[in-house]
Amino acid sequence: MGKNADVSVAADLGEIAFSPGREEWIEYGPPGERVRVGFHDYAALYAVPGLYERVFYEELGMGSADVVVGLYAEALRSLGRDGARERVLDLGAGSGIGGALLRREADVGFLVGLDREPAAREAAARDRPGVYDAFTVADLAAAPGTFETLAAHDFTAVVAVSAIGSGHIPLELLAETLERLLRPGGLFAFAVSDVLLPDFFVDFFARVDAEKLGERTYVHRRQTDGSPHGAQAVAARLR
Ligand SMILES: C[S@@+](CC[C@H](N)C(=O)[O-])C[C@H]1O[C@@H](n2cnc3c(N)ncnc32)[C@H](O)[C@@H]1O
Repeated sequence: MGKNADVSVAADLGEIAFSPGREEWIEYGPPGERVRVGFHDYAALYAVPGLYERVFYEELGMGSADVVVGLYAEALRSLGRDGARERVLDLGAGSGIGGALLRREADVGFLVGLDREPAAREAAARDRPGVYDAFTVADLAAAPGTFETLAAHDFTAVVAVSAIGSGHIPLELLAETLERLLRPGGLFAFAVSDVLLPDFFVDFFARVDAEKLGERTYVHRRQTDGSPHGAQAVAARLR
């Protein structure tokens, strides 16, 4: 397995198959015991050790964790900020791939995960124990009281890997998260799919007063038909 997918795989995941045409389902398991789950059914994907990593990172070559965490780490270096003093929220943390990289590549000292799926917290604790100092299970869109609880952590940065955009955390909610959880000088890094560009960033930076520190256009992953799914990532500092 690659460096972002280094979890022990208990089940025989067998060959991974995808729904033809639309990205609707994923099938895995040994012959005669094949299991089908929804393409974006994260609870089902996280429940099986190594399945999410195998599907998205190995089969589909997902690159967002490296790019987004890389931009954040570069921003820290360019500002002369010590990762060990950073207090970071990993927004839409999933099973902790981005969190593990934040520790390893940016040397982040204090790290909180947040995801709406209880299975994400279980997977992160199972597959990457110790990566998070705390992990909140909440849907930010549906539980605004979560902001008060999170604010107590006094974050210096918010990082979101593959968790912004349609079906995930929308622009308005991301903007509100930054405003409510960061002070001026707070850093953030995230990426959005190229189907949302260029309007997303224009609208976002009209809404959020921030200085861009770095950006990258890259291939987020292959689509199941083999075509590239592009994305753009940015790291910035709140004014
Ligand atoms: C594509 S996964 C990415 C997971 C992880 N960051 C990674 O790169 O492996 C997106 C995650 O965002 C979470 N998510 C989406 N919308 C959310 C919301 N409104 N509040 C909390 N979590 C959310 C999903 O449950 C899912 O685990």
